[in-house]
Amino acid sequence: MKKALILGISGQDGSYLAKLLISMNYEVHGVVRRHSISENQTSRIDEVINDVKLHYGDLIDMPGLFNIIHKVRPDEIYNLAAMSQVKISSEMPYYTLQVNGLSVVNILEIIKNFFPSIKFYQASSSEMFGNSVDDDKYQRLTTPMIPVSPYGCAKLLAFNLVRHYRAAYNLNLCNGVLFNHESPYRGSNFVTSKVIKTAVQIKKGFKDKLILGNLDSYRDWGHAKDYVRAIKMIVDYPEPKDWIVSTGKNKSVRDMCEYVFRKLELDYKKYVIQDKKFVRNEELKFLRGDSSETQNILGWKPEITFENMMDEMIDYWLKKI
Ligand code: NAP
Ligand code: GDD
Repeated sequence: MKKALILGISGQDGSYLAKLLISMNYEVHGVVRRHSISENQTSRIDEVINDVKLHYGDLIDMPGLFNIIHKVRPDEIYNLAAMSQVKISSEMPYYTLQVNGLSVVNILEIIKNFFPSIKFYQASSSEMFGNSVDDDKYQRLTTPMIPVSPYGCAKLLAFNLVRHYRAAYNLNLCNGVLFNHESPYRGSNFVTSKVIKTAVQIKKGFKDKLILGNLDSYRDWGHAKDYVRAIKMIVDYPEPKDWIVSTGKNKSVRDMCEYVFRKLELDYKKYVIQDKKFVRNEELKFLRGDSSETQNILGWKPEITFENMMDEMIDYWLKKI
């Protein structure tokens, strides 16, 4: 039985990845942080709680991480843990750099010095591109990476550390550069969940407006379930390297609002207002990834359409509220 250690198992992707690995007969271990409300530690993984082994830890606690890795002796480590909210990263830049950037060097040192056979996956992000885009309006691994947030800067540091340690020490390390992906498990301070949750509250009479920031930025939105399939294929590929995971299609935040409100038989223009409180200090305006290499070489394909994903999230919030 292979062993996997998921850092960030309580998050959106961690919960989908845990289910996938369990279905593949892995012994799944995960690191969770201590919360004062203990139910919050595991609310996304309740369905599989008896099939995973959890360990308390934090990415910035290197001795704690070393002890977990030493005890578990995983074949694969998936680093999905991060302070993942881009706007909030401007409010806590130092912490974001520590968790999303510097902590990764600790894990790489542990692997290099003590467990060099471990396969390591780093959750890299399309936010690393900032506003760079190729002439054909796609981003790919060769597109310059010029991040526009502390989150993006930290992720770029981790991305480069993984590349450097792989080349310098011949380790089995890879980056998945994933574009935005969503699901019913998406945190409700990300724009898709926020829009859907609030639109449902409006529909049910609990709220009368939705306050947003920039409606004119474009994102390449896929489904987390499809994207964790790609993560596993990346780790299984015989040669450790870096990959783009995206749908290749994008929409604006405004298009997304229009779709959600229309599904609920509402006109978004009557309810959506803008407030600079939700506008980024430096906006990333346009993301659309070229994942053709990932699709051609790994044979991965996104299966869930934007519309099906939105409908699934709307149903989830209709039942929940
Ligand atoms: P998420 O739902 O916010 O989950 C993040 C996870 O990291 C949670 O389990 C969280 O634990 C954990 N975490 C945060 N700080 C930690 C720390 N200091 N020590 C240990 N664990 C910590 O994020 P996601 O959407 O699943 O994304 C997974 C990863 O992919 C992240 O690294 C994210 O930056 C990256 N990524 C995401 C996307 C996307 O669109 N979703 C795209 C590209 C890259 P708590 O539950 O205790 O907070
Ligand atoms: N969150 C949020 N809240 N975003 C808003 C709002 C709002 O009220 N109003 C407009 N937006 C716009 C943001 O300015 C951004 O252009 C877009 O909606 C998407 O914002 P988020 O859903 O917060 O995601 P993100 O693109 O900043 O970051 C996500 O994707 C990255 C990959 O590109 C996160 O999952 C990151 O962790 C991930 O790396």
